[in-house]
Amino acid sequence: AEVAKTGPHQYAITWGATNFREALARKQKHFSGLDYDPNSEIVVTCGSTEAMMAAMMSITNPGDKVAIFSPFYENYGADTILTGAEPIYIPLVPPDFTFDPEKLEDAFRQGAKALILCNPSNPCGKVFTLQEMTTIADIIKKYDAYIITDEVYEHILYAPHKHIYMAALPGMRERTITCNSLSKTYSITGWRLGYVLASPEIIDRVKKVHDFLTVGAAAPLMEAAVTGLNFGDDYYQELQAHYTHMKQLFVGGLKDLGFTFTDPQGAYYVLMDVSEFGVRDDYKFAEWMTREVGVATVPGSSFFREDVHNLVRFHFAKEDATLQDALNRLESLRKKANAATDVDWR
Ligand SMILES: Cc1ncc(COP(=O)(O)O)c(C=O)c1O
Repeated sequence: AEVAKTGPHQYAITWGATNFREALARKQKHFSGLDYDPNSEIVVTCGSTEAMMAAMMSITNPGDKVAIFSPFYENYGADTILTGAEPIYIPLVPPDFTFDPEKLEDAFRQGAKALILCNPSNPCGKVFTLQEMTTIADIIKKYDAYIITDEVYEHILYAPHKHIYMAALPGMRERTITCNSLSKTYSITGWRLGYVLASPEIIDRVKKVHDFLTVGAAAPLMEAAVTGLNFGDDYYQELQAHYTHMKQLFVGGLKDLGFTFTDPQGAYYVLMDVSEFGVRDDYKFAEWMTREVGVATVPGSSFFREDVHNLVRFHFAKEDATLQDALNRLESLRKKANAATDVDWR
């Protein structure tokens, strides 16, 4: 409210207001231990969505290959189409979403220039372990490649899982283009504030791409959000406690109802297995369920490159009463699904 009166209301520096970049550098140092120079190693973007696009455009040329773990956040597919890059998908295999290092390395043998890593992952809730991160880092270094990380759920974690910063692993700082945003950490998805952290050589290119994509992020919102970037540790602890409560309520309810699902390690999604109902078409099943049960889900196949049609994704960042209402409705799912005849999803 204060900023609305006093401004700034004109363009900020295209790569982000100085005080905002300085606050970002302080926060990043606090959590990752890494120093980023606010002037030469940070670009403020319109959300992580722009950060990812600017990162992709800065390090790939049309025709370059990019490795992507599948399931993946849908935008990565669009980013490769828009940049003209060719995706190579590496399966994260349900139910625990592990990957085969051989398959990952094979993507780089085929000439992949970069890997896109969403950690914690939307949609599968995976938080990559130090061992997995080291395996990935070793391959990236061996093939002299880059890694573009999407760390928007960095602070939404469930104990004992911990967020590991790829850029903080030995030899990875100069190979890692870290994309992140304030959307999830401060519950301000509509403010469109994100950022890219990388070495000066890469940031130089990101600045140019960003300038032509959006000119810059909203000046008054950057000014107002500096307050959030300066919050103490108690804010992040409360955030985790709040999400842990929502997760326990929803996941506990699904468990009581006897469903099969992936208990997330981070982010705020649950993938539920609906194969017990004989689902062949998860899109049609999701439509049916929204209509007949009154709980909306996203069909799992929209996130997978592989032929996976037995999953639906729930989102549990909701008020207790909403989650309880959803669970009450889901109580009727098994009965309704088993009794359903003449449906187009079986
Ligand atoms: C993995 C992931 N990355 C990026 C985004 C978009 O973030 P932003 O609001 O910062 O553009 C989302 C939003 O759901 C997401 O789940």
